[in-house]
Amino acid sequence: MGFLEINNLSVAYLQTAVVKNISFSLAEGETLGIAGESGCGKSTVAKAILGILPKSAKVTGSIKYREKELVGMPEKGFEALRGSEISMVFQDPSAALNPVRKIKHQFYDIFGTRHRERKAADSEIVHFLTHAHIASPDNMLDSYPSQLSGGMKQRVVIAMAISKMPRLIIADEPTSALDAEIRLQIIEELMGLKERLGFGMIYISHNLAELKKTADSIIIMKNGVVVEHAKTAELFSAPKESYTHELISAAK
Ligand SMILES: Nc1ncnc2c1ncn2[C@@H]1O[C@H](COP(=O)(O)OP(=O)(O)O)[C@@H](O)[C@H]1O
Ligand SMILES: [Mg+2]
Repeated sequence: MGFLEINNLSVAYLQTAVVKNISFSLAEGETLGIAGESGCGKSTVAKAILGILPKSAKVTGSIKYREKELVGMPEKGFEALRGSEISMVFQDPSAALNPVRKIKHQFYDIFGTRHRERKAADSEIVHFLTHAHIASPDNMLDSYPSQLSGGMKQRVVIAMAISKMPRLIIADEPTSALDAEIRLQIIEELMGLKERLGFGMIYISHNLAELKKTADSIIIMKNGVVVEHAKTAELFSAPKESYTHELISAAK
């Protein structure tokens, strides 16, 4: 059974196509990297998979997740998928967290925890925070996002993303809002979790150096089009497109 199969996916706003006829597939447990400069359509692909594009976006083509067609699927279907099958880690953890809700309450929202179930939920939350290598997770439960550093916030977001044991994580530039010294830690965190939990991943970055560490294969996008798609080692040893050369030289 196919895990994720994308065929001739296009996304347009009004008359402007921002993603044009892209196709790729992902096997269960593998990591696909997507690279390309800002505005080339990376996040649009991610949002199309999760069904979170604005209503004004016209999506055509096919996105099959475990044989189920996601293009045109009603919102109810996506609700059943998001979090428990596919979840996303966004670029900016501050925007992903609710600033006026304690961390534990944000987990209760994800789990749908009732009042009397909270004690039991707390130990589960501590389990996932520990998974994301958060020290003293007990103290974290009653914290507000503003009390945490950027790196800690992203660890909490990652703990939330894995908390319903999804089979696919889409990480959309998960390090770009963080300080340089924290970036590597977050990449290692995601890779460690992937190793332990076995989920597949789409890892988006404008920096090919990050994809060299994380991806089994890489797609290079430019102006909404896939210009190159290769296994990671091949892409770095024998890039075919001059644009890929440019991105490799720019990566560090
Ligand atoms: N809501 C929107 N309405 C119109 N155009 C949009 C909208 N969202 C994104 N775009 C355009 O789609 C293109 C791709 O954006 P995006 O997928 O966010 O790029 P990336 O993630 O690669 O930086 C950009 O040109 C952007 O301006
Ligand atoms: Mg983006």
